[in-house]
Amino acid sequence: MRIFEEMESEVRGYIRSFPAVFDVAKGSEIFDEHGNRFIDFFAGAGSLNYGHNNPAVTEALIEYLQSNRIVHGLDKATVAKKEFLEKLRDTIFTPRNMEYKVQFTGPTGTNAVETALKLARMVKGRSNIIAFTNAYHGLSMGSLAVTGNSFYRDESYGVRANSAFLPFDGYMGKEFDSMSYLRKLLTDQSSGVDLPAAIIVETVQGEGGIHVARDEWLQELEAICREFDILLIIDDIQMGNGRTGTFFSFERAGIKPDMVTVSKSIGTGLPMSLLLMRPELDQWKPGEHTGTFRGNNLAFIAATKALEYWDSPAFAEGIVYKGKLFEKGVKTILEKYTDIETELRGVGMVWGIEFADHGFAGTVSEEAFSRNLIIETAGANGQVLKFLPALTIEENLIEEGLKIIDESIAAVVATRKNLQEGVLA
Ligand SMILES: Cc1ncc(COP(=O)(O)O)c(C=O)c1O
Repeated sequence: MRIFEEMESEVRGYIRSFPAVFDVAKGSEIFDEHGNRFIDFFAGAGSLNYGHNNPAVTEALIEYLQSNRIVHGLDKATVAKKEFLEKLRDTIFTPRNMEYKVQFTGPTGTNAVETALKLARMVKGRSNIIAFTNAYHGLSMGSLAVTGNSFYRDESYGVRANSAFLPFDGYMGKEFDSMSYLRKLLTDQSSGVDLPAAIIVETVQGEGGIHVARDEWLQELEAICREFDILLIIDDIQMGNGRTGTFFSFERAGIKPDMVTVSKSIGTGLPMSLLLMRPELDQWKPGEHTGTFRGNNLAFIAATKALEYWDSPAFAEGIVYKGKLFEKGVKTILEKYTDIETELRGVGMVWGIEFADHGFAGTVSEEAFSRNLIIETAGANGQVLKFLPALTIEENLIEEGLKIIDESIAAVVATRKNLQEGVLA
């Protein structure tokens, strides 16, 4: 670890939560440099929905590279790009009756968000954007302005203008009708909230702590956007690519966003981001929003291969099935610990346990790591233990991982009890 401490910036993060030097990875298992095996319930923060080194993807990549096919092509036409676009149209768009234009943005998620916000502002000629409490949309300046967590939003960055935050579904409790509140703000001349170019929302807030928006809430949000001529941007960077049980996370609500940001697992772990937009919104002039790394050909090859999972309904059915295994397994564990106040939230294959005691989830994650399971926390205070496994994870690994979670919670409970008894003694 010394070289990382010596040379790598203090900003390094996950390396601190999971202090091992990783080397080999296959499916949902990772091995460190000494050959120690870890089960992965984190899947590259949702970038590895198809698992590490998916064999079909690896094979296609090796063949592509060994034939000296083009790797970097700016945004020129390539066979790899052509085949990706055809596959995306035929496998994802056409069966869903979607007609989005595709823009390849810079390689990481925040690049797609920046592009969406810029285009929305340009098309509508308005600067304000509405976002939601606990939202996470990335950390470059534009995306940061619509990200809620104060840890990332230092005043000195000067990027917090032109955005307004509203309560996400459930933020103010079950009774509070945040959509009526939004409607009131938009109709009242004196609300202080300017008519926005767009509203950006995650259907399930991932980094924000696994908050699932109800279908009705999303439908009402769409209706308000239509009524007030506001663009609806769904940020599907973490919850898309099958995470919630359908390819796009908003399919369950039957809504039709104006723009969709897609990244993370679309490239199966290789960097690639897309902005999908209604064709009328594609008002860019040629080259007006450009960049060197847009459309990485290796990611096209990987993505085209991975989209084959969506050729039959079996894959989506498998997500729902395995999601239920997680839900049931976690519920069974939590029933054993009646003294701990928790809330389980999730859908498909994303689940989160919120602990009322804010230090608890982080300690469980540490205990789990010491037992060779990788699992992260989420939420503004790291208070949610977040289950984000690959969608391809095998059932025996789910079982093995959940057993480790059970042992880890038991260990934290025992340590706290000992500490308390020590204090009392
Ligand atoms: C919903 C959402 N949007 C945007 C981003 C930013 O993506 P990236 O970290 O690739 O820039 C993330 C990353 O976690 C995300 O979850």
